[in-house]
Amino acid sequence: MNKLSLERARERDAALKLLSRIRLPSLSGKNGEELATDEAAVWKRVLNFRIARYLKPHSIFESHPGLGISTCLYRFVNRDVVLLSAKDIVKLQMADLVDIDPFGQPWDIVGQYVNALRRSKVIMITNGEAYAVTRRWTNAQRHPSRYYGRKMPRWVVEEYLPRLESILRKPCRFFYVFPSTVRSIHSKLPLPKSLFAGCPQWMWWLKRYPPDIKKIGIGKRR
Ligand SMILES: C[S@@+](CC[C@H](N)C(=O)[O-])C[C@H]1O[C@@H](n2cnc3c(N)ncnc32)[C@H](O)[C@@H]1O
Repeated sequence: MNKLSLERARERDAALKLLSRIRLPSLSGKNGEELATDEAAVWKRVLNFRIARYLKPHSIFESHPGLGISTCLYRFVNRDVVLLSAKDIVKLQMADLVDIDPFGQPWDIVGQYVNALRRSKVIMITNGEAYAVTRRWTNAQRHPSRYYGRKMPRWVVEEYLPRLESILRKPCRFFYVFPSTVRSIHSKLPLPKSLFAGCPQWMWWLKRYPPDIKKIGIGKRR
């Protein structure tokens, strides 16, 4: 095993240890939904768990529960949590916590529930366009980027996250990027840094090409 895969295995094992107290529906899964497909999938569940534990949400809207692994984590945190359906979120127009986690792009779902998202407390959102940006498949991008290849991280911080912050009207409090996906956490109120401890921001080969985030000021826009 080379140094990079060793490091990835260690990160994955640390995250798995964190989740080991919880009985999950399936560890084998299908279609790449299982817990440990890659470090992004593992960290998604770890952060979902930590954020729910911190926020103690009464209501959660999960747009794509899939096999229900994250649902299980939310229920572990609060047995009485109200899991909202699409109809509920339209009716209530808000949730304490929103988890948007499609395969592919989130734009349709964001557009569909934009008013409810703006009223919700914390939003966690996945976008699977990263690979298309790297490959310069502009037809597979809703808002074609000027960046591609090793500059994909610049798409994340200069184009994608600012667009999302402005649509949701909530600053991005944390994000991480895997070669195929970006996961970001948006909240009007600041969140403790400890929630994101240990989670690598630029995963796998992206570690070698991080852009200068301080210069760009992600999380400062309102
Ligand atoms: C990434 S998985 C969700 C995993 C889940 N959030 C978790 O943490 O355990 C995405 C799920 O959305 C489902 N899905 C259903 N309709 C979809 C659509 N139109 N676009 C993308 N994903 C869709 C997929 O089958 C899959 O089960």
